[in-house]
Amino acid sequence: MNSPKLSDRTNSGLILENRLHLERLVSAEAPTPAEVNAGSDVVSGLTQNPKSLPPKYFYDDRGSTLFEMICQLPEYYLTRTETAILQERAGEIARLTGPCEIVELGSGSSTKTRILLDACSQLEYPLHYVPIDISPSILESSAHQLLADYPSLQIHGIVSTYELALAKLAPSHLPTRMLCFLGSTLGNLNPQECDIFFSQIVGALQPGEYFLLGIDLDKSQEILEPAYDDSQGVTAAFNLNMLRHLNRKFEGNFDLTQFEHLAFYDREECQIEMHLRSKLAQTVNLRSLDLTVEFAAGETIRSEISRKFNLNTLREELSRRGLRPVQVWTDPNQWFGLMLCQLTVDSW
Ligand code: TRP
Repeated sequence: MNSPKLSDRTNSGLILENRLHLERLVSAEAPTPAEVNAGSDVVSGLTQNPKSLPPKYFYDDRGSTLFEMICQLPEYYLTRTETAILQERAGEIARLTGPCEIVELGSGSSTKTRILLDACSQLEYPLHYVPIDISPSILESSAHQLLADYPSLQIHGIVSTYELALAKLAPSHLPTRMLCFLGSTLGNLNPQECDIFFSQIVGALQPGEYFLLGIDLDKSQEILEPAYDDSQGVTAAFNLNMLRHLNRKFEGNFDLTQFEHLAFYDREECQIEMHLRSKLAQTVNLRSLDLTVEFAAGETIRSEISRKFNLNTLREELSRRGLRPVQVWTDPNQWFGLMLCQLTVDSW
């Protein structure tokens, strides 16, 4: 089958056979006007003690590919487990929501979305999908693949960070909307960011609309740590790739052979921490940010946290925010949870 033809161009994006509209709110390379403070987050992270970097810099094209590989690793139980729950429950979810526009934050390859789209097709619902991802190439290629596989599907893809996309989301094309945030990406936000994120979710939904959330649940260190430090070194490559991305984006000179991957579970905080550890004392420059950073031998940059949740605590928190849990599903081991929430009528 031929790939769909480009039929129209607009300022905001690209319209393809009227079923695909791609919009770019941020660019992968040079900062766009929407990214007014591009790089200021890198500067503040690297000049703080302890040092940290924002996880969004994981996801250049190579990073997105490496992440897809992580999801297939034997140690990385999250994707498999969440997929199994979705497969079992997608029909029930579709019946609960009725016809809805599916908006997905961090859509990546959209593999899990297919399960929801299949359930909606079976019920003969119209199919509207709004994937939001920071990586333009993965967004574009998965959109093309989906259009080829679902002949009635309409896609409005947005290349963006979550914050920008949620703030600019147009009203739903269908009677209701389901915002999906899968893969326990919620766990990558610290409590303060999580708080802001929930207000953005509430702001992007109308009363009665849905929020589908996938979360990793707390469990033993023996299962958790290998998921973030696999035997093939894919997670290590993913972590180190952030430095390569920064080199390209901000004219940096990080030497990837002089940093190493570190992952451990902090039981007090209920979170996995991922770091990049400097093997020796060294100086790194990021030219376009006019930034020079000194590293002591063994000093680390924290690149990611992955919080692990307790279902009851989260359920209460969501209810407090006006996101009423309609249904909660887990796998037989209780390793992963999927929650369908609905914005209550009196929320702000
Ligand atoms: N949100 C998932 C998790 O916390 C996926 C993820 C985000 C991830 N950043 C990561 C997985 C870094 C491995 C390494 O597990």
